[in-house]
Amino acid sequence: MSLISAEGLTKVFGDDIEPALSMLDDGATKAEILERTGSTVAVRDASLSVREGETFVVMGRSGSGKSTLLRCLNGLVVPTRGHVHVDGEELTAMSRERLREVCRTRLTMVFQQFGLFPHRTVAGNVAFGLEVSGVGPEERERRVGQTLAQVGLDGYADKRPEELSGGMQQRVGLARALVTDPDILLMDEPFSALDPLIRRELQDELMRLQRERRRTIVFITHDVDEAFRIADRLAIMERGTVVQTGAPVDVLAEPATPYVRDFVADVDRTRALTAGDVAGRDAREADATLPEVEASTALGAVMARVLRDGAHRVTDNGRAVGTITPAAIAQLLDGAD
Ligand SMILES: Nc1ncnc2c1ncn2[C@@H]1O[C@H](COP(=O)(O)OP(=O)(O)OP(=O)(O)O)[C@@H](O)[C@H]1O
Ligand SMILES: [Mg+2]
Repeated sequence: MSLISAEGLTKVFGDDIEPALSMLDDGATKAEILERTGSTVAVRDASLSVREGETFVVMGRSGSGKSTLLRCLNGLVVPTRGHVHVDGEELTAMSRERLREVCRTRLTMVFQQFGLFPHRTVAGNVAFGLEVSGVGPEERERRVGQTLAQVGLDGYADKRPEELSGGMQQRVGLARALVTDPDILLMDEPFSALDPLIRRELQDELMRLQRERRRTIVFITHDVDEAFRIADRLAIMERGTVVQTGAPVDVLAEPATPYVRDFVADVDRTRALTAGDVAGRDAREADATLPEVEASTALGAVMARVLRDGAHRVTDNGRAVGTITPAAIAQLLDGAD
């Protein structure tokens, strides 16, 4: 079921946007519109639908409209055209109060720059959202402690942000978002300021948290490896428009446009894909006599075996989900049909 959906979203920034909109309807490009009218088309007729409990990644080059699109999903940016629904309720039609309540209780945003309060301790930063919601001091302390433990910051409650490394500050930002236990997390390049090793660590952390308590996450990144690593499904934006949405394996196997093909060309498929991803593309009944491999195994870890011994039967907790064949692997590694 779709929890968040955006239909036909357009956002034009500018003082007088009517001329820009009519040029848009005539098919003018962003550059033409900017030159003629001074207005910027940030998002252009973009649609997406995020299912409950999935990690949905939006990727695209710098300036393609990712942040603007994300901000439309929680009302920080009011779309020029189009609609956003959260759990069946139209965001664009909500009153200010209702919007604030939805944002406080269901939907939290994690920004790239966390903007931690420098004068507050780690615990004080994390407690902020609870204070705003009127949660009492004892309950606050309990939940802050629990959340700090969840993100691996045990023992840092009394430190100030400046005493922490960048990665730890990022964890504080994550804790601050998690402490109110939102159903929906909107994350705008939350890990982009980190070096690759710590970045990986936080990706793992996020995936672990997802296994413990499934939230609906919309995660923005321009790092394709990160995108393919954590996404259940992903959307690719090009010049304000969503040009493809799908499971990672489908996007890799069948890029919808030359831009997408280019964009995913360097994705490390042996890491991004699992045996289950490859098997899912083969509709044939799995042959019970074939050797078995677990669906969650990374493609890189089964590849040698399959190329050497031939097809394997892929199982997910004992249930057969398909077959992984040398031909299917070759096709995915080529990225060509
Ligand atoms: N508040 C604003 N006022 C005017 N123009 C804006 C505003 N916010 C974004 N834009 C413009 O809209 C376009 C899309 O910007 P956006 O920040 O959504 O892109 P992005 O995909 O998030 O990029 P990045 O990867 O660099 O963060 C850009 O051309 C940008 O200059
Ligand atoms: Mg951005």
